[in-house]
Amino acid sequence: MNATTLPRLNLSTFPRHALLEGPTPIQPLSRLSARLGGASIYVKRDDLNGLGGGGNKLRKLEFLIGEALATGADTIITVGARQSNHARLTAAAAARMGLKCELVLTRTVPRFDSDYLENGNILLDALFDVRVHDLSGSANALQFAEDRASELRAQGRKVYVCPLGGSSAVGCLGYADCAAEILAQSTQAGLSFDRIVVPNGSGGMQAGLLAGFAALGVKTPVIAAYTVLGDAERARSITLDKANQTVRLINENLHVEADAISIDGEQLGPGYGIPTDGMREAVRLLASTEGLLLDPVYGGKAFAGLVKDVTSGKYAAGENILFIMTGGLPGLFAYRSEF
Ligand SMILES: Cc1ncc(COP(=O)(O)O)c(C=O)c1O
Repeated sequence: MNATTLPRLNLSTFPRHALLEGPTPIQPLSRLSARLGGASIYVKRDDLNGLGGGGNKLRKLEFLIGEALATGADTIITVGARQSNHARLTAAAAARMGLKCELVLTRTVPRFDSDYLENGNILLDALFDVRVHDLSGSANALQFAEDRASELRAQGRKVYVCPLGGSSAVGCLGYADCAAEILAQSTQAGLSFDRIVVPNGSGGMQAGLLAGFAALGVKTPVIAAYTVLGDAERARSITLDKANQTVRLINENLHVEADAISIDGEQLGPGYGIPTDGMREAVRLLASTEGLLLDPVYGGKAFAGLVKDVTSGKYAAGENILFIMTGGLPGLFAYRSEF
């Protein structure tokens, strides 16, 4: 395969609003790979997407904002945990578009210190000047969002409700497109990735990548995820479902098989947003060997899994592995006491 014979994804029928500056770089982690021995590790810098502090959710938001604008929305509401990166980036994208935005944030994570409650993403939400609804950990955020949308619609507003993590099938198209971007970049660099490693929260990033490679019709690298939200079984069924919804949006004859879903549950630890020793070590390791910053809730746990599986030999020596850096840097400030 070369640049001219490269299969392409045509997503031009889906409304989309540009929020990215272009392809994000792929960089080798030479020092870290030498330190661990075995596989060659690369990173794709989705943390460098610029708007609102950056991160993976901007890829989904290009399509979600596109859909919102196509439906004539003047207001966007989304849900998440108090330190949600998706909520922060939705707020930033709404500010950029001149849309009103409300965030329905739950206290799902049992952390009560002022850094967690007031710093990091929540500080940035306030700067984007959005309304935050502060709900208890047991509240049904999506139901609250739908009720609030009805209230606003009764006042004449046009409201678009965006699901957890932006992971509707339309949102996942952002990562289907990223699969095409990775294929183009790796082909141009003469590289072939055996494995792409990601954190799995709402499952949309993994699902979108699987859908994208299926739609491109090329041999799919293993898309290896570490779940950071639910147990592995639950994450697997949610991700398979989203991957199939997404690929069918692109081509209704395509299908993602269940055995394509690789999810490891070992890095979750006691639960979503609860730090583990592996996460703390992974954040320090990548910072001190490569000067790169992982977040404590998603990338830190997934990278801990990657380090473990490279050093144990589960990921074979000689493999080329691409880890997607998903952003979430503000989370480090919310978890200051962990470091
Ligand atoms: C920084 C970061 N990385 C990874 C993820 C996981 O992506 P997904 O929800 O698509 O599985 C999220 C989701 O919120 C995130 O904020």
